[in-house]
Amino acid sequence: MKRIITAICMMLLTMSISAKTLVVYYSYTGNCQQIVESLTAQIEADVMRIEPEDKTQKYEADNYAIGTALLNAIKAAPDDAASYPTIDPVAITDLSQYENIIIVTPLWWSQMAAIMQTYLFNYSAQMAGKHVALIVSSHSSGISGVVADAERLVPDCTWMGDALWINASNHSNRASLIQDWLPMLNFAEEQTTMDKMYITIDGQTQAVTLVDNQATKTLVEKLQQAPVTVTLNSSGGFEIWGALGFSLPTSNEQINAQPGDVILYNGSNICIFYGTNSWSYTRLGKIDGLSESELRTFLKAGESNITVTLSLNNTTGISNVRSNAESGVYYSLNGQQVENPTKGIYIKNGKKVIL
Ligand SMILES: Cc1cc2nc3c(=O)[nH]c(=O)nc-3n(C[C@H](O)[C@H](O)[C@H](O)COP(=O)(O)O)c2cc1C
Repeated sequence: MKRIITAICMMLLTMSISAKTLVVYYSYTGNCQQIVESLTAQIEADVMRIEPEDKTQKYEADNYAIGTALLNAIKAAPDDAASYPTIDPVAITDLSQYENIIIVTPLWWSQMAAIMQTYLFNYSAQMAGKHVALIVSSHSSGISGVVADAERLVPDCTWMGDALWINASNHSNRASLIQDWLPMLNFAEEQTTMDKMYITIDGQTQAVTLVDNQATKTLVEKLQQAPVTVTLNSSGGFEIWGALGFSLPTSNEQINAQPGDVILYNGSNICIFYGTNSWSYTRLGKIDGLSESELRTFLKAGESNITVTLSLNNTTGISNVRSNAESGVYYSLNGQQVENPTKGIYIKNGKKVIL
């Protein structure tokens, strides 16, 4: 049981948040637009609509031929930019801020609508390495040809999951189709900034509020794998310090260290202060809420060979997490309880849920 509780606690501590998502769509007769409206009612995303440069082109039911001509031109020379119909200037040209991209496109003659093909052809390089998903709207034809077009046009992305097919007979049901599809997607995730670490000495645990720098990011990554135990020694009447056993990135500056400060010295040593000292250090964080005399007791000031464990797991918080997590309460992705959850991604009963 304790292992399960610890696992839930660790999950809440290391829970990650979905990175930014862009929805890109083309819609000639409005179906894809409605799909995008249903989609963005369920997820947080920026939206961009692609338009053909030539607005006079008509693809009405009695004149689908122009769609065929566009597709035939692409088929004849798929690697030639000139084969693709020109699209209007694209509003969002820098995709670097997005880790997830959802493409919503109509099917034309069992292929991807030519206008969307142009977009993917032009932005394929920027989509490399990103997590990409596909929604295809057709009247009734199956979508394997559109999926093949997407894979040809964006060969270097990570597909988040199977494409979602919405056709004329289930278009009115699109919201629930999307709701069932979203949890199956492998969205790229971004680690939330971890701002707490815990120091345990002789069975006593104290929280440390971490500063945000490369050293703490690297330290948190290390502690996510396993706690680190070090042997520290009192020194100079103001600190306990010793080797971490690994190096962290430094951003040294002259620091007047104060009681409670947790500091990186020379890239690979940790110093925890119960007094003051001025030196060129990289700040890691500060022990929360202990007076100088409490710090001296906690840190065993003056002693040698002090066993100190650094971890992300505050064992004293486990029972709270358990009782709430099992009662179906919603948590934000950084572990805060949410009274009235609205649209977004939450943790409920230890699982990620999308509202
Ligand atoms: C040029 C063209 C070709 C199409 N070809 C097919 C087809 O082969 N099979 C099919 O089921 N639907 C076909 N359709 C219908 C569209 O895929 C369908 O209506 C879709 O929902 C349109 O999305 P939109 O309203 O966002 O443009 C075609 C539509 C156009 C304009």
